Amino acid sequence: MYRIGIIGCGKIAQVRHIPEYIASGKAELAAFYDLNAARAEELAARYHGKAYHSVDELLDSGVDAVSVCTSNATHAEITIKALEKGIPVLCEKPMAVSLAEAEAMTEAAARSGKVLMIGQNQRLNGTHRMARDIIRRGDIGKVLSFRTIFGHGGPETWSIDPGKNTWFFDKSRACMGAMADLGIHKTDLIDFLLDDEVVSVSASVTTLDKKDAEGNLIGVDDNAICIYTMKSGAVGTMTASWTYYGEEDNSTTIYGTDGIMVIYGPSGHSISITLKDGSHIYYDIDRMQTNDAQTSSGVIDEFLLSLDRGWAEISAASVLPAMKAVFGAIESSRTRREVRI
Ligand SMILES: NC(=O)c1ccc[n+]([C@@H]2O[C@H](COP(=O)([O-])OP(=O)(O)OC[C@H]3O[C@@H](n4cnc5c(N)ncnc54)[C@H](O)[C@@H]3O)[C@@H](O)[C@H]2O)c1
Repeated sequence: MYRIGIIGCGKIAQVRHIPEYIASGKAELAAFYDLNAARAEELAARYHGKAYHSVDELLDSGVDAVSVCTSNATHAEITIKALEKGIPVLCEKPMAVSLAEAEAMTEAAARSGKVLMIGQNQRLNGTHRMARDIIRRGDIGKVLSFRTIFGHGGPETWSIDPGKNTWFFDKSRACMGAMADLGIHKTDLIDFLLDDEVVSVSASVTTLDKKDAEGNLIGVDDNAICIYTMKSGAVGTMTASWTYYGEEDNSTTIYGTDGIMVIYGPSGHSISITLKDGSHIYYDIDRMQTNDAQTSSGVIDEFLLSLDRGWAEISAASVLPAMKAVFGAIESSRTRREVRI
């Protein structure tokens, strides 16, 4: 049994990490820490663990590994601290809020020799894995372009502390908005699906509609629309939005020389392929987890597997190219020019 510490006891810890650790049968929820002490105490009582008063106290309590589920701006500091104490980490996305931090995390993982996995759960969906196999097999030919989207109505109803004063809207704690919250998922997914990396980006990362409790536009972006050129030469768009009111869009379309593949599209099939000759192939595998419908993400099983074998497939190093594209997109939007990564 791995003795697990939970740092940040909010929504993602409660609806994903904790239930998936319990379901694994391989983990004991030993330690909890949250800035909100009552929240940590409550979880400790419910899961027969112990609440601590600081990150250091928790890290010195004899845990075998930790989940970092705090707000974005604290991921790097807590993760590096844990790794320096020889403790493996599963850190939620976005892994960091600056390129320097993301690189420091990657280096800390390499120096410590300990597992650092990032919670890029979209790589673990059966549908996304199948889609990657189909692309690799060449069923739709050479990939020419793509369109990937993650949009919903925003995080203000999701957070454990809901409302217009959510940290997700606060630049000092979130640093980035829809781009970091949703855009990193789809940027990392495109790298994963195409076995590729973004080499240049033009983007508009902007705030169109979300207002804080005072009625002012929020301090972070609520929409990010990016044009990515990949190393292979493929060109596509990545859209992240917190203003898709009414219905979530989590779809990806890949256009190849021999056909089109739609993943989690409106047809209701997990994957639908239309070949050049007009014939269709459908795959029904699973549905995407949404904020309202949480299915097992596989993230915790993957982390525990990473601990068993001593290395993580979804490592910090493997997410770094997508993080560079995210920061490149923000720079492109600010400077109004194409940015080479
Ligand atoms: N993989 C995914 O799909 C996914 C989904 C949702 C959230 N997340 C990520 O998980 C992280 C947490 O998001 P959430 O939805 O649980 O937010 P939340 O608001 O529901 O909870 C955050 C919790 O962290 C605590 N916290 C903040 N800073 C802290 C610190 N320095 N030390 C200890 N506790 C601290 C808060 O008190 C709160 O209890 C974010 O980085 C978010 O981007 C990932």
